[in-house]
Amino acid sequence: DDPTADPFDVALGAAAQIAERTGVERHDIALTLGSGWGKAAELIGETTATIPAHEIDGFSRPALEGHVGTLRSVLLPSGKRALVIGARTHYYEGHGVRRVVHSVRTAAAAGATTMILTNGAGGIRETWTPGTPVIIRDHINLTSDSPLEGATFIDLTDLYSKRLRELAHGIEPDLDEGVYCQFRGPHYETPAEVQMAKVIGGDIVGMSTALEAIAARQAGMEILGLSLITNLAAGIQATPLSHLEVLEAGRDAEPRISALLARIVAAL
Ligand code: 6GU
Repeated sequence: DDPTADPFDVALGAAAQIAERTGVERHDIALTLGSGWGKAAELIGETTATIPAHEIDGFSRPALEGHVGTLRSVLLPSGKRALVIGARTHYYEGHGVRRVVHSVRTAAAAGATTMILTNGAGGIRETWTPGTPVIIRDHINLTSDSPLEGATFIDLTDLYSKRLRELAHGIEPDLDEGVYCQFRGPHYETPAEVQMAKVIGGDIVGMSTALEAIAARQAGMEILGLSLITNLAAGIQATPLSHLEVLEAGRDAEPRISALLARIVAAL
């Protein structure tokens, strides 16, 4: 929280603590598991260490029920090492964007060159029923914020790697792609805001991922983004949104979409 601390130094320190606690010097890939994707941690390989995230520098205690606050080191069948981040700090928690992207910067500092970002989100396309997984093709960041500070003019073309999107299509040809709109939250959007998101080219509304993807690009990582549509957005679905129903939809879809993610990881 020290505003004078360099966020990359904090991430390097956190990565050193993870190396020490896991006995793994270098992780190859990192996954952030959002609502509905958590079971993938067990399906991708063998967990060799589990750390409560708040014991590592820069990580907060979980703010939300349904989000497990752990960092895991997983040995994949290929011999690669995955760092599984089950501890997301959301922008709406109000701790600032540095906290939000700390896990991504820590993953990069731990050696990861591939970053898989997953989330539970609202759907704007009526054809998407709750439980539909969607590949993020691009995003619109509606937070008015950025994880970058100062004159850091980085390009965000193909932020969500075309190669990894094609790899995911190869695993599951029926997967749709969509544009993810990050709103600040924590309230869900009004129907008018959802219409705005649709008009400007959005397909998915959520409260994470875009800021994390920008930080991952800055760190030079190759990014795959996946959304689980847990519900249709306000005005698209007739009934009011409830956080409990969102969590339930995530739990219902979890075995199926976690298995999908495990197949994608096996193909990396
Ligand atoms: Cl409708 N909006 C946002 N921003 N996040 C969500 C959602 C909606 N449903 C699940 N997560």
